[in-house]
Amino acid sequence: MSRYYLTTPLYYVNAAPHLGHAYTTVIADCLARYHRLKGDGVFFLTGTDEHGQKIEQAAAAAGKAPKEFADSIVPGFKKLWETLHISYDHFIRTTDSYHTDGVRAALEKLFKEGKIYPKTYDGWYCVPDETFCPKPDIENGKPVCPDCHRPIEQIKEKNYFFKLGEYQNWLAGHIEKNDSFIVPKTRRNEVLSFLKDQKLQDLCISRPKARLEWGIEMPSPPFEPGYVTYVWFDALLNYITALGYPDMKNPKWIWPADVHLIGKDILRPHAIYWPVMLKALGLEPPKTVAVHGWWLVEGEKMSKSRGNIVDPHTIVAEYGVDAYRYFLLREVPFGHDGTFSEKAMDKRYNADLANDLGNLLHRTLTMIEKYFGGVVPCYTQSFVGMPADLEKGWDSFDFQKAISGLWAWIDQGNTLIDERKPWVLAKAAAKTEELKAVLGGLADMLRTLAILLWPIMPSTSENIWKQLGCPGKISREKLWAAGASSGQKVQKGRPLFPRRE
Ligand code: MSP
Repeated sequence: MSRYYLTTPLYYVNAAPHLGHAYTTVIADCLARYHRLKGDGVFFLTGTDEHGQKIEQAAAAAGKAPKEFADSIVPGFKKLWETLHISYDHFIRTTDSYHTDGVRAALEKLFKEGKIYPKTYDGWYCVPDETFCPKPDIENGKPVCPDCHRPIEQIKEKNYFFKLGEYQNWLAGHIEKNDSFIVPKTRRNEVLSFLKDQKLQDLCISRPKARLEWGIEMPSPPFEPGYVTYVWFDALLNYITALGYPDMKNPKWIWPADVHLIGKDILRPHAIYWPVMLKALGLEPPKTVAVHGWWLVEGEKMSKSRGNIVDPHTIVAEYGVDAYRYFLLREVPFGHDGTFSEKAMDKRYNADLANDLGNLLHRTLTMIEKYFGGVVPCYTQSFVGMPADLEKGWDSFDFQKAISGLWAWIDQGNTLIDERKPWVLAKAAAKTEELKAVLGGLADMLRTLAILLWPIMPSTSENIWKQLGCPGKISREKLWAAGASSGQKVQKGRPLFPRRE
């Protein structure tokens, strides 16, 4: 059995989750389910990033201690993952003691090996991004963060630095040799040209407690007392502390990760800091960092600080969870930015879900009831082929390809009905082989669709499975066999996706 370890980023707990967070997590869930269906041993990790100035400030604004504040936000994430049918295997919080212990062990090892050293940092810091900005941009005469263009603050502190710079050539070489280390290609090229154009600075990995209380305390000795570790150094390590780091004999230890799924705003920490941290720790880099775009609202990134949040609960209440999951995967090519609107959701819902998929099931079951007393007929000659290119789509993060392959197949099913006209065939005195082949074939097709759609729309798939009268649970072994559904008693239910006017 191959194993498949995939992760989402750890979400900041400064506010409730929104569409942007839901997007990363839904994609991860679909991939996890796809691999489970394939029979892989999946470990799907998600969780929350709870330290740092941003959380400290949000907690203060809410009149709570940081941990108490984090405790009040985390259930909102778990609740949303439940609503969205997210099948994660483990939820890590950066305040969990196994994580903080693992981070301290990593810090100690790197310090003892001379890969971390003290120095005074005199420069700019971006609180919203929790990053040091050695080269700020100037806008309207004021220094701003070169990434997010928000105001930054000046700090002068003695801190500990990680020797990131030493690994520049190694990292560039690793990326060049491994096509699929960063996908899509545009992001890979972005990192490669960054590494070619700029000298990689060493990374500041601490904050004095006098400036930031809310972090993982650095072990003293060997570090001077009074330091906490910098958010990114803490958070990135979750991908291995969740597996039991530093205990590599832990039965949970399945490093390297197959996929870190992230948004484009956190490319640099994942594609630069993290592989170098791993290399310094003597561990392999992850196999793939897969980078998606942003959901925009009127051209701006959706975020709490911009106040343009679309609450996933509202949309799910309106359209249902599977339509939401489907929309997120289908609407925007992976890696591109997309614009969320209810108009676009309505269009997809009515066209793809109500008309194409919903109708195919409904028409097929209605006719099986009408012409065969609800029992799927046996047939000999099959009119239905298999959809093409599915695996390629999934394996290359081209979800649109995977989904449009399925929808082309659904179209074939609807066209088969329109062209063969079962209602005309049924008028023949004896129920012809052709009528049996059309309806029996369609039942087999829908059964296969239920399996193939399961990673994206698990409850809809289970519903189709049940309405077709398929026994047992959805599984890959039951994928395609002509005649597999013959003899089943269908149980037509309500339409899967009632049309929205
Ligand atoms: N805590 C860090 C990640 C640490 S990982 C070791 C962080 N958290 S975050 O909550 O700000 O963002 C988490 C993820 O949500 C990122 O992948 C980010 O791209 C994604 N999104 C947040 N807003 C988004 C949109 N508007 N659209 C799409 N995804 C975006 O960064």
